[in-house]
Order: sequence, then structure tokens, then C-alpha cells
Amino acid sequence: MPNNDDPKGTSRRAFLRGGLIAGGASLVGGGAVAQGGNPDNLPPNVPDWSRYLGDGVAVREYGKPSSHESHVIRRDVEWLTASRESSVSFTPIHELDGPITPNGLCFERHHGGIAEIDPTDYRLILHGLVDKPLVFTLDDIKRMPRINRAYFCECAANSGMEWRGAQLNGCQFTHGMIHSVMYTGVPLRVLLEEAGLKPNAKWLLMEGADAAGMTRSLPMEKALDDVLVAYRMNGEMLRPENGYPVRMVVPGWEANMWVKWLRRIEVGDQPWYHREETSKYTDLMEDGRARKFTFIMDAKSVITSPSPQAPVNHKSGFTVLSGLAWSGRGKIKEVHVTLDGGRNWHKARLDGPVWDKALTRFYYEFDWNGDPLLLQSRAVDETGYVQPTKDELRAVRGLNSIYHNNGIQTWHVMASGEVENVEIS
Ligand code: MTE
Ligand code: CO
Repeated sequence: MPNNDDPKGTSRRAFLRGGLIAGGASLVGGGAVAQGGNPDNLPPNVPDWSRYLGDGVAVREYGKPSSHESHVIRRDVEWLTASRESSVSFTPIHELDGPITPNGLCFERHHGGIAEIDPTDYRLILHGLVDKPLVFTLDDIKRMPRINRAYFCECAANSGMEWRGAQLNGCQFTHGMIHSVMYTGVPLRVLLEEAGLKPNAKWLLMEGADAAGMTRSLPMEKALDDVLVAYRMNGEMLRPENGYPVRMVVPGWEANMWVKWLRRIEVGDQPWYHREETSKYTDLMEDGRARKFTFIMDAKSVITSPSPQAPVNHKSGFTVLSGLAWSGRGKIKEVHVTLDGGRNWHKARLDGPVWDKALTRFYYEFDWNGDPLLLQSRAVDETGYVQPTKDELRAVRGLNSIYHNNGIQTWHVMASGEVENVEIS
């Protein structure tokens, strides 16, 4: 199969030349005709939308995507949703591009439903082993020095249903418990300095104001490093479902620690061992012992297109493979992709900003000869950590785990262009 490690290289140029020789319309025009539609709108006719004035300004006070994109939505999985108040919806990553997740499509995970907080009644309590206990209003927080950072937020249970084998048919469901947005917030360090830490201050308890009252313990070292008390995502105030008006942003660490609707921070000298860090978010090993405090999300990647919900609609020819890579240990250094189940690996092209602990977009362009493919991607981060295969992961962790499955995903592209979730060993 012809392929190219350098997208600016010969085979892509050959494709473009081929496209021009074929009239240039073959790719785009072919797609439009194949999708049906109204021939009256097609060239050389004047289409409907050119004959009439459209909506004026501010008719749509808060803009929404085109009605033709109404299928691009968060979805839940029925058998994972016993109750909507304690469940998860998944980001449609197969429909997105670039490194940023739009606010309205960020997956949600709630343990007690969405808290509807009136910002005028919002308070953040900071107490415990501090010189001066403090209560902040939202305005207090907004008055403090703020920074902007893009970070991925991945639930530790992302891909958890795949531990024992391929199960869910679509990367929205296998990998969609992730989003990556640009946060605006105050470094937690600034708040802690304001209160003044006692010498024995070693851990923090973060508590949510939702009905679940979710709590997690956070080591002081991380708290003083890059943790944010955030109130904006992609420029606008946090969405209610993502923690309005204030949430914790704990870069690179499991999303369960990103406490939403943040109500209280208590400073202590040891961890609290609450529910979410004992009975949940620990990993039972084969020998009966459990891994605890597995905070960091290791390097991982997934091909978002082609994928089961994003099949290949052209029978063969120039094909853009696209995906996402991320690491809780820092920046993504390289992504490798294979079209033949791991026999040959090629370096993908990272495109757009490669931020620390944020989603990184990759592409690999190739000429598809129409034969079945076994697609995989493998992320390498700046520490040199290489994303493992699922078998490598199981050899170390056994079969009891749910959380922290960062194994390599395989998609089987059939000659028809349809794609299914498979595993190869
Ligand atoms: N914070 C509170 N207060 N309540 C919750 O239920 N769920 C946690 C975390 N923070 C949760 C919470 C879990 S398990 C995840 S995966 C993330 O929030 C999800 O964040 P998101 O809904 O913005 O995607
Ligand atoms: Co979670």
C-alpha cells in the first residue's frame, strides 16, 4: 500500500495533481452527488439560499451549530445510565477536529446531577491548617491574578469497558470521556498563599457543592504546582454541567479529582481516604492488592477518523487519518500509526499547538487501495513513555481493572469502508 510519512511529499502532490487532471471536482462534487439533495440547488442554478434575505443580526442571540450538524451531540449508553443524575455522557470526538473541544460537547460525569448555583450565593471556603481561614465570593476569585491554559480532562474510567475485550462500537463511547478546553482561572497556589499554610500542611480536601458532595484528597506538591481554580472554559463562564461557577483543574490527573461546583478546600496533614479514593478509583490487581492514588493519566491516543462512527465513504484513494493524543506527564512528542495491525509503523504529523497535558491533533495521509485495514495509533510523550498495547497492560494489571486503560485501540476498516472495534494480539 502506498503511503507517505511526509504529507508534503511526493504521493500527496501526486494526488493533488491527479485531482486537478481529473477536473478538480471529482472529490468534492462526487461526495455532494452521492449525498443526494436537491438538484435545483446545484450549479449552474442559483441555489435557494441565494434568493432570499437571511436572518438578521442578533436573531440568534446565542449562536448554535447549523441544523445540518444536529447529529453532533453528546450521547449516553443506555446500559451505563441506570440514573441520569449519576451517569456519563460522551464527547462525539469522531465528529470534531483540531485540539479544542467545543463547550456544548464536553462529556459530563455527574454523581448527583447538575448543581444549579446562583453566583451571588456562591462561596468558596478555605480552612484547616492555614494561618487565616478565608471565604471567597466569585467576585473575589475573579479579582485575583488569572492565567489561561488548555488541558485535557479524562475520566479514569475512559475505555474502562474495554478491559476484557473490544466492546463499544465507536470512539465516542470507547474514548469519549475526555475533553480539552482553554481554562481561565487562578492558580490554587495564589489562594493558599493568601491563607498562609501551616508547616505541617501536606494534603488538601476538595469538596463539591452538588448533591453528591464529591470529595477528593490532593497532595500539596501538586496543589502548589499547576492546579487551577477555574471559572471560564474557552473564554465564557463554565457551563453548569462542567462545574459553574468554579471547578478544580488538576492538569494531567484523573478527572474525578477535577471537583466541580467547588465549595470547600480543607488543608490537612494526610489524605482523607474518602469513597472516591478507596472503593472507587483504585485498581484491583491479580494478587488481591489494589493500586491506590493512581492520579496521573498516562499517554494515550485514538484514531477518531476513520472509526466505527466515521466510516470511509470513498471506496479508495487519498485518505486522511486523524486522531487525538495526550499525556498526563507533559507534551506529546510523537504519534505513530499503523495501517496493517502493527507490521509497519509510520510517524504521524502533529498539527496545531502541542500544549502541555492537552489534547494534540495528529494526521496521517495515505492512498487507500480499498483493501481491509487494521488501524492503530501509539503515543509517545516527552518523558519517553510509550503507549502500551492492551495485552502489555493486562500482563501487568490483570483483568480486574476498570480505570486507567490507556492501551492501543484497533479499528478494522473493511473493504466497504465500514469500521469496527476489534482487538488483535
Ligand atoms: N465534581 C463533583 N462535584 N461531582 C461529580 O460528580 N464527577 C467527577 C469530576 N468532578 C464529579 C465532579 C468525575 S468522575 C469526572 S470524570 C469529571 O468531574 C467530569 O467532568 P466534566 O463533567 O466536566 O466532564
Ligand atoms: Co470520572
